[in-house]
Amino acid sequence: MASKSKFQAIRGTRDLLPPETALWNHVEETAHSVFATFGFGEIRPPIFEPTELFARAVGGETDIVSKEMYTFVVGDFDRLIAWREFVSNTNKIRDLDELDIYERSLSYLHRFVQEFVKNGHLPDDDQIRTTLAAVQKTMSFVGAALIEGRRSNGLVNLDELDREVENAAIAAGSIRPGEQISLRPEATASVCRAYIEHNMQQLPQPQKLYYIGPMFRRERPQKGRYRQFYQIGAEVLGGVDAPAIDAEVIEMVMTFFDRLKLPGIHLEINSIGHAADNCRRGYVALLKSELEKVKDKLGADSQRRIETNPLRVLDSKLEHEQSIIEKLPHIADYLCDDCKTHYAAVKRELELRGVFYKENWRLVRGLDYYMRTTFEITAQGLGSQNAVCGGGRYDGLVELLGGPPTKGIGFAIGEDRLILSLQESQGASLATGHRPPFVYIAWMGANAYATAVRAAKDLRAAGIRVELPPTESKFGKALERASKLGAQYALILGDNEVAEGTWTLKTLADGTQQKFTEPHLLDFLKKM
Ligand code: HAM
Repeated sequence: MASKSKFQAIRGTRDLLPPETALWNHVEETAHSVFATFGFGEIRPPIFEPTELFARAVGGETDIVSKEMYTFVVGDFDRLIAWREFVSNTNKIRDLDELDIYERSLSYLHRFVQEFVKNGHLPDDDQIRTTLAAVQKTMSFVGAALIEGRRSNGLVNLDELDREVENAAIAAGSIRPGEQISLRPEATASVCRAYIEHNMQQLPQPQKLYYIGPMFRRERPQKGRYRQFYQIGAEVLGGVDAPAIDAEVIEMVMTFFDRLKLPGIHLEINSIGHAADNCRRGYVALLKSELEKVKDKLGADSQRRIETNPLRVLDSKLEHEQSIIEKLPHIADYLCDDCKTHYAAVKRELELRGVFYKENWRLVRGLDYYMRTTFEITAQGLGSQNAVCGGGRYDGLVELLGGPPTKGIGFAIGEDRLILSLQESQGASLATGHRPPFVYIAWMGANAYATAVRAAKDLRAAGIRVELPPTESKFGKALERASKLGAQYALILGDNEVAEGTWTLKTLADGTQQKFTEPHLLDFLKKM
């Protein structure tokens, strides 16, 4: 027998299976309910967006955008290549004035268009379709002119010909072949895009939105780091930049973790100021010059970052760079007065809410859109990938994406890491919410089967979990299976029970049996 090829989930992706998915659901339900108490509503943006959106929001030089995105060129490659050839040929035609060359090029163009539309492969893009129509019109015009020219044995009106071909060329050139799209590496950019697209600035401000869903980054997989991973995130957009908002957003994450009984969490905060010469820009210039002085002692990544993004050097985890980085100037000493005041107020607001934090001047985050408040939360049991939440303020982002000037702050929790940490710390005792009683219906006989089907329907309608075996089996076998599945009760239905109208319920843990009429049975189980 030919061996069947074995398919496996792609590296860095995985299947989430029961019973673990019950824990995922519990975590997500907790997020829905905690975030609702803070006035947040759910948003579900698409999973892919134009690559340009992430490049602009997250930053072209960041690892996320420059190395880790899953990017696709939309459209059929062959068609796009053919299209480019067509455009260049159209341009060539315009430059020629020999009729026979026109003719040859036109027959080429004709073949191309035929190829393009054959087998009902009409381009699905409206723009392409319009252009094709224009090209076809031009060709028939040129063709007619050629025939006419021949027939009259004179010259065709080359000016007019030129104009028509030029029109086609302009139309062809307006097509942007190969638009790039990317699987989202994060969702803040999408939420801002949606805020602009749906004119949310017209709604009461701020808009408080949260999302739960998969993100994609082509990182090296390891414990707590996947290529498809899940985030639970929230964003506050519009309104004012009051420090109370920063603090409340952080308080909300901490409340959520607290509700889940996530132990060993540590919150670190920082302020990276705003992009001005008397604030972050000034500091970065100073940092850069300080880094140049110690460049030789730094690793290749940090050396590159001196040029591309000096702040990110502070993020380095390399052992031998630590003592060098510790001696660098601290951003807190170079913040402008407004940013300093804002940061001090955020700290006060956190204290007011009883949120414990530690300041970390090296917390700069790996995305370009941040300003002022940045924060990260670590959890236990995660090894090196212990950041379970990251966030911060990003006041310029909506404007950068083409919207009105808008304040913004938010965070994203790594759900995979959150789950890992819960599993490590709480193990088998994990509370996964209310579990309904579980009844296995052991039936025998045709009459009993009809009653069993009805009983299953009634019990399920009352929220009770029911396993109804699809085929008949002896009571002994049925009870064995019920235990194996972990049922609490077996409802025994034979033809006798059905005739008498009293049903037997066996408690599997201790083997005791009780007899019930149908309505009493429902009452009994509902109270479980
Ligand atoms: P981030 O720090 O890139 O921020 O990601 C947030 C969290 O997502 C991380 O702390 C981590 O728990 C989780 N995470 C990131 N990459 C992976 C991965 N490869 N595997 C598993 N978990 C991962 C953002 O994404 C920002 N959009 C957060 C934000 C929202 N800032 C403002 N609003």
